[in-house]
Amino acid sequence: MAKVKTTFFCQSCGTQYSKWQGQCTACKEWNTIVEEVIQKPEKNDWKTPTNTQKRVSKPLTIKEIDSSKEARLDTLDAEFNRVLGGGIVPGSLTLLGGEPGIGKSTLLLQISLKLPYKTLYVSGEESQKQIKMRAERINPDNESCYILTETKTQNIFKQIEALEPDIVIIDSIQTLHSDYIESSSGSISQIKECTTELIKFAKETNTPVVLIGHITKDGNIAGPKILEHMVDTVLQFEGDRNHVFRILRAQKNRFGSTHELGIYEMQGSGLREVSNPSEILISKKDEELSGNAIAATLEGMRPLMIEVQALVSTAVYGTPQRSATGFNAKRLNMLLAVLEKRAGFRLGAKDVFLNITGGINVDDPAIDLAVVAAILSSNEDEALQANYCFAAEVGLSGEIRPVQRVEQRILEAEKLGFSAIFVSKYNKISLKDTSIKIQLISKIEDLVNFIV
Ligand code: TYD
Ligand code: MG
Repeated sequence: MAKVKTTFFCQSCGTQYSKWQGQCTACKEWNTIVEEVIQKPEKNDWKTPTNTQKRVSKPLTIKEIDSSKEARLDTLDAEFNRVLGGGIVPGSLTLLGGEPGIGKSTLLLQISLKLPYKTLYVSGEESQKQIKMRAERINPDNESCYILTETKTQNIFKQIEALEPDIVIIDSIQTLHSDYIESSSGSISQIKECTTELIKFAKETNTPVVLIGHITKDGNIAGPKILEHMVDTVLQFEGDRNHVFRILRAQKNRFGSTHELGIYEMQGSGLREVSNPSEILISKKDEELSGNAIAATLEGMRPLMIEVQALVSTAVYGTPQRSATGFNAKRLNMLLAVLEKRAGFRLGAKDVFLNITGGINVDDPAIDLAVVAAILSSNEDEALQANYCFAAEVGLSGEIRPVQRVEQRILEAEKLGFSAIFVSKYNKISLKDTSIKIQLISKIEDLVNFIV
């Protein structure tokens, strides 16, 4: 064995140093530099191709490059496929991050058990028995999914060579370790080395690999940021653990857009795909309540109707409170200022609370109008018509601004049985014969006239 070699890594950004120092010069974090034992690998473990096999890249013109579309692996999970941009790309590395207990293992095990391909599910966290218990809740009869409990990459590759799976799932990257590096599992150098070995394997055999990654307290994937640069796709699985809904979104995707969203519901028998989220995000009520308004938003290519709730009450303490859940608090303050200045509402001495139901986070400016409508409704203690919805941005001078793809929003509202939708007068709409009334407004006062 070669001489033990150590080096220093910043645990936050992964920068390597030859000696210890208090502050990382790259990311400016203090006390993040830690010594790790490494040993430079002479050669990597995933079989290095012999000289005759070795592929040598040659420059090609765009025309010469084979453009035949790579067939994607269909995961049979419509939400997962959508977020990936249509399925898993062969030879790609996908990283799935999320808080502990949110359902990462459940999601990937469930997908493995449905896949019609030979799948190897490697777990370094749970025993085969535990996985079987979980699998029994989901879908116990599957002949093509193999479970391996192993943490050493060299052993995993040995099993892969014997089994030749079509897809490999690793739960989780932080539990893996490679013989070539001496530091403990989960350290920066181990994560980097194991990922490099897996990338080499994926690219050389064209087998897709999906990794589960833990996230730290502040919501980043544990390990170096470089991990996110190394993989092709980074998915984030999020949601409030007290809510049943889970949202899957792509943070980075080399093969598709990052705007798509997958919605699941956690049930006793695993995660259920929610193909029509609008219906579950809007609560059905018998009586109309003040302070509720429905917004027609878009998440990626998919229209989504969400419910905005506002509560306006007289401030008990000196400084009024403003709080927003699922909506930008600065934007809320701006909308309140617009209401005060342009429509003459005295909200300066009132507490305003805003909530987007379903535990989701929205940054589509088109929900502005619904936010304003909910605030006005709560302020006046007048319920809005339950079958009204809103889709427009509100500008600083109180003008109602157009939003993108308004027709798609109108059609979704029509499909769900709304009777009227409020949009900007400046939106070009060429829809004809809609059963929904399209109410065009241009200023905030127009909205006030309708509500108050
Ligand atoms: P898990 O997949 O272990 O989370 P992670 O891998 O992200 O840490 O999810 C565990 C939670 O999911 C656990 O609290 C129980 C819940 N669960 C269900 O509600 N229904 C199910 O069918 C399964 C398998 C888990
Ligand atoms: Mg897990």
